[in-house]
Amino acid sequence: MSSSIILGIESSCDDTSAAIIQDNKILSNIAANQQIHNEYGGVVPELASRAHQQNIIPVVEKAFSKANIQQNEICAIGFTRGPGLLGSLLVGTSFAKSLAMSLDVPLIEVNHLQAHILAHFIEDANPTPPTFPFLCLTVSGGHTMIVLVKDYFDMEIIGKTIDDAAGEAFDKIGKIFDLDYPAGPIVDRLAKDGNPDAFKFNKPKMEAYDYSFSGIKTSVLYFIQKEIRKDPDFIKDNINDLCASVQKSIIEILMDKLEKAAKELNINDIAIAGGVSANSGLRQYMEANREKLGWNIFIPKFEYTTDNAAMIAMVAKLKYERGKFTDIKTTATAKYDL
Ligand code: KG4
Ligand code: ZN
Repeated sequence: MSSSIILGIESSCDDTSAAIIQDNKILSNIAANQQIHNEYGGVVPELASRAHQQNIIPVVEKAFSKANIQQNEICAIGFTRGPGLLGSLLVGTSFAKSLAMSLDVPLIEVNHLQAHILAHFIEDANPTPPTFPFLCLTVSGGHTMIVLVKDYFDMEIIGKTIDDAAGEAFDKIGKIFDLDYPAGPIVDRLAKDGNPDAFKFNKPKMEAYDYSFSGIKTSVLYFIQKEIRKDPDFIKDNINDLCASVQKSIIEILMDKLEKAAKELNINDIAIAGGVSANSGLRQYMEANREKLGWNIFIPKFEYTTDNAAMIAMVAKLKYERGKFTDIKTTATAKYDL
């Protein structure tokens, strides 16, 4: 097959990103993060959409110049059609449609969640990619699920959260600790100097492979309220231990179900994906237990964990090879099943 060069665009939440892929190799992967949301303790959809409008052209231009590729060299444009915030998705979708029309190249819609999983097939993501069927723990700010990946475009969700996502738990608990948004990476950093066994929080009892994270958030909130009545400086004086203990609890909740699924389905190729897969505690747990569990583990490179357009370009490339193109009349969709 001749070489294909594809532009990928991601704008589902608060990162505007563009990437160029040639075959399975990423030539550039540019992202503009939106700091504006820090002040509000969470993503404000209207502000996210406006920031995407400002960022999209410079980000795409930078992706082309970094890759040293001219616009007329690309053979398709992939974009995140959903799931995500509609106002954010609309910016990337409209931009991709206009550019595809003006360059007269095919348009390829990408499911953001599939992209997190299929990021494992980017050339430098793993020494060897996972083999089908594999399990992928997909953990982000909006989703937490165990996906049985039977083929590139044949995926089944076998377990998911019934309330908060794992990233949301990190962010909301971090907010209780007065940390900035998104708190996940800050909790991760502070946990490095803390004792993970300092505090114990309740774990949910869920059916099959499902998750729940609202209980741990409430349990942390009540615990903190009780402790600061006795000592107003409790959070400040114990922040590292608190972060380490919360992180350990979240990892244990995630891993218990993943281990159960791997055992019961008799699958040894186990991947993690999504923003929370950047968590160093989760990554270390997987590494440390790989032999005991008999797993081949697939941990994405850091730059392919949180939202990025490299993963969108990767899926677009797989769809391009299969002739899976999208009509130019397409619209963005906030909900989009795997
Ligand atoms: O995949 P992603 O960038 O966006 C969504 O699709 O949601 O995930 C963002 C989530 C946020 O909740 C953020 O706090 C969390 O991933 N996150 C982390 C870490 N890095 C990002 N959570 C824990 N530890 C990290 N190092
Ligand atoms: Zn994501």
